[in-house]
Amino acid sequence: MADESQKWVLMVTAQTPTNIAVIKYWGKRDEKLILPVNDSISVTLDPAHLCTTTTVSVSPTFDQDRMWLNGEEISISGGRFQSCLREIRSRATDVDDKEKGIKITKKDWEKLHVHISSYNNFPTAAGLASSAAGFACLVFALGKLMNVKEDHSQLSAIARQGSGSACRSLYGGFVKWIMGKDDKGTDSLAVQLADEKHWDELVIVIAVVSSRQKETSSTTGMRDTVETSLLLQHRAKEVVPKRILKMEEAIKNRDFASFAQLTCTDSNQFHAVCLDTCPPIFYMNDTSHRQAPIISLVEKWNRAEGTPQVAYTFDAGPNAVLIARNRETAALLIQKLLFCFPPNSDADLNSFVLGDKSILKDAGVESPEDIETLPPPPEIKDPSQKFRGDVSYFICTRPGRGPVVLSDESHLLNPETGLPK
Ligand code: DP6
Repeated sequence: MADESQKWVLMVTAQTPTNIAVIKYWGKRDEKLILPVNDSISVTLDPAHLCTTTTVSVSPTFDQDRMWLNGEEISISGGRFQSCLREIRSRATDVDDKEKGIKITKKDWEKLHVHISSYNNFPTAAGLASSAAGFACLVFALGKLMNVKEDHSQLSAIARQGSGSACRSLYGGFVKWIMGKDDKGTDSLAVQLADEKHWDELVIVIAVVSSRQKETSSTTGMRDTVETSLLLQHRAKEVVPKRILKMEEAIKNRDFASFAQLTCTDSNQFHAVCLDTCPPIFYMNDTSHRQAPIISLVEKWNRAEGTPQVAYTFDAGPNAVLIARNRETAALLIQKLLFCFPPNSDADLNSFVLGDKSILKDAGVESPEDIETLPPPPEIKDPSQKFRGDVSYFICTRPGRGPVVLSDESHLLNPETGLPK
């Protein structure tokens, strides 16, 4: 039993955003270290709407490493958690908290156990890159607790070993994951291309679709693709390197036309690579509902305007992520989307459009009745055909900031016991 002086609990709480890739990561050259076959670029989403909050704590009274996700205890014996814990522990340095009278030496960290509690402010099952925000937050928070001196890029190389896309959540704004060359993965890390203020006109609307069938996980999907798709080899070698340069230029110059064109083309090629896999992976298999009407609406609208207004991108699931060039376009977009995908009659608007609800006001939609009186978008062939209830909810968001440490009031663990509150 620990004596009284050994009863302290030290904790840190951090918040980390999720991200959406506009040039996709798909395929690993090393599965264990999670090293990709190409560079990728993402936009960090505003943590006010989509984020993970994680409290990490340490105490001599803890007898094993434990973790709770959204209040439920989960196992962290898997290789990915263990890699992150091992890598971050090996970089721990002395901690001297004079206020609390706690001293931990670099050597102590090898024997001390941690308690971790993590919470997503969005449904984990919605397929919104919860593992990206989750592993980024775990590594960032442990880095603070253990007084790790490495910068965000070096931390990103650790988060990468939890889930590839997690490395891009260590920064806000626009982020590139450099694939690197080293076999050990030391140079496979994220860098910030521009912060969230650089292009703050952009508005991001996510359509979270309902009744999702069981999808192929990214990890097994990309393993099959690497083993069987010749198109992936062409993509990684010939297509992505040129596209990355163009995307960096587009972001630098806030050139929405190029940004949108590259984003849509890359999403479509990612899904083409999935179809080129044996057995084929159908993430965008819903040809009559949801994805096809959204793509066709955006394509027709962009063509009619003569220059892109909105970009679309789809990850390893059916949710659509739409990026509008500015608020005005976003208001029009939300009108068109609400016309085509109205909520079930019993849904209230407040739970159907989440995030930055001010876009709804701009769109002139303040009650469910307003949805019924929206004009049919000129892009759709048959205005009588609506996909009522096919979208569970929309989230309106924007490019957002990177990880931050939160104040003591945000702790998810009890400061005396180190157990979930
Ligand atoms: C389609 O990062 O989830 O979202 O590294 O195996 O954990 P693992 O995969 P994950 O894959 C994400 C793939 C993607 C594209 C992207 O985010 O770049």
